[in-house]
Amino acid sequence: MIGRLNHVAIAVPDIDAAATTYKNSLGAVISDKVEQPDHGVSTIFIELPNTKIELLEPLGEDSPINKFLERNPNGGIHHICYEVENIIAARDQLSAEGARVLGSGDPKIGAHGKPVLFLHPKDFCGTLVELEEA
Ligand code: CO
Repeated sequence: MIGRLNHVAIAVPDIDAAATTYKNSLGAVISDKVEQPDHGVSTIFIELPNTKIELLEPLGEDSPINKFLERNPNGGIHHICYEVENIIAARDQLSAEGARVLGSGDPKIGAHGKPVLFLHPKDFCGTLVELEEA
């Protein structure tokens, strides 16, 4: 089921400062900042040769990453995203095995315009897992 690593997401308090660090210190090519009001975050993507880094900054008062940043005020790794061929089949198989899918359980359209789901960190080694249909 599990496919390529699509991205690693890092939640940060100041996305412009984070992007500048990646650009100036690490020589990364960074995307423009995009507000994702449906997800309560702003994103900047960093393209690496084999995957992407997704920088996340809270957007709005009920951003789903506010609590994470309260616990990790300097930022930190928030989730990892794996590609799957069929997100509904993956969800149904994981749910049948007892894994918890966050939210309504129905895929939302993610930052790349593709359906995504999140899986509970307690079921996946303490790591929030995003699945994205490839
Ligand atoms: Co993500």
